[in-house]
Amino acid sequence: MKYDFDTPINRRGTSSYKWDTGSDFFGRDDIIPMWVADMDFPCAPCIVKAVQQRAAHPIYGYVVRQQPYYDAVLGWLKRRYHFDVRQEYLVFSPPGVIFAMSTVLRILTRPGDRVLIPTPNYDSLFDMAERSGRVLLESPLIWKNGVYTFDYEDLERKAASGAKVMVLSSPHNPTGRVWKREELEQLAQICLKYHVFMMVDEIHCDFVPKTNPHTTFGLLGEDVLKHSMICYSASKGFNLGGLGMSTIVLADDDIRQHFKEEMSIAQTRLDNVFGEAALMAAYTPEGEEWLDQVIAYVFENKAYLAEYLAEHIPEIKLFPSEGTYLVWLDCSGLPYKGMALEHFMINKAGVALSPGYEFGLEGERFLRMNLACPRSTLTKALQQIEAAVRTI
Ligand SMILES: Cc1ncc(COP(=O)(O)O)c(C=O)c1O
Repeated sequence: MKYDFDTPINRRGTSSYKWDTGSDFFGRDDIIPMWVADMDFPCAPCIVKAVQQRAAHPIYGYVVRQQPYYDAVLGWLKRRYHFDVRQEYLVFSPPGVIFAMSTVLRILTRPGDRVLIPTPNYDSLFDMAERSGRVLLESPLIWKNGVYTFDYEDLERKAASGAKVMVLSSPHNPTGRVWKREELEQLAQICLKYHVFMMVDEIHCDFVPKTNPHTTFGLLGEDVLKHSMICYSASKGFNLGGLGMSTIVLADDDIRQHFKEEMSIAQTRLDNVFGEAALMAAYTPEGEEWLDQVIAYVFENKAYLAEYLAEHIPEIKLFPSEGTYLVWLDCSGLPYKGMALEHFMINKAGVALSPGYEFGLEGERFLRMNLACPRSTLTKALQQIEAAVRTI
């Protein structure tokens, strides 16, 4: 490998949400945090260089997106996902993907309206709907032929019952499923049939190996495109979460105009000066080469984890994770669930994982683990978990 993903970098003392909150959240500083979805690897060298070069110019005033920025985004969507999107469909959300989704949700729905959501799912996607008074229609995924997939009958029943919008993460957080084109098409057809607007969060799509590529919703045809919102971001694949760079595709003219007005009212249209430099460097062939290597490294972590669990901790089972750096661990072999499972990992193993119940009720015997870390960190966490499990 050309890049070094093995050498741990100390993130403590950098105001890291993941590494500097141990005592606040878990009452101990020595916790190994594997919950927040960012990476413990340094960014691609081309990104670091671009940010340093921009930082060398000592004026950090307001910036506005210029054509090279649009070219970088459009070029990336075309090269990586074969999505030839029109520039005028693009809008931006400096505060992030969830801000954009919750803004569109509030444009399209009123309190009491129904929101269809396959579960488990990323918790902020529930939160944005529930906390703004919308009613969730949860449609649990089913386990079929060794993978999670949609329950189309249930989805259709719920879509027909008056859902206004459907919210999806693709690839899927927390399970790591990379939805196949046929699965997405079937889902989209149901939504079109019942006039359910599709809000699709593709924030993790860059972190998918080329051998099993991601299908962006943008490829499902003009009709689907006009009835959907698709969210991209450089924050997951390129580890730019602190820079908040997201790109939103809104093909419907009225909704897009309304979105722009909302962003303008909130004065959040302008970009982050370093984010702009980072994104343009990320979406280059050099950035892409780094991305493919970091994906390969994390997939080796997945293989290592699978072997380790099978050999040493058979009580915990790994679901096949096709994309993202997240894995969904079935802990049914342990005598704990829900908060007791979460606390066992924190207090007995010293490892902080995302508790499965945060992603929906069916997650109470699961934990989500972030594998975007050096192998030595993963090994240490696994040894601590193994020792804790042996005390039960
Ligand atoms: C599926 C998903 N969507 C959105 C986000 C957050 O995105 P943002 O910070 O751009 O709002 C995350 C972060 O973990 C995520 O996993």
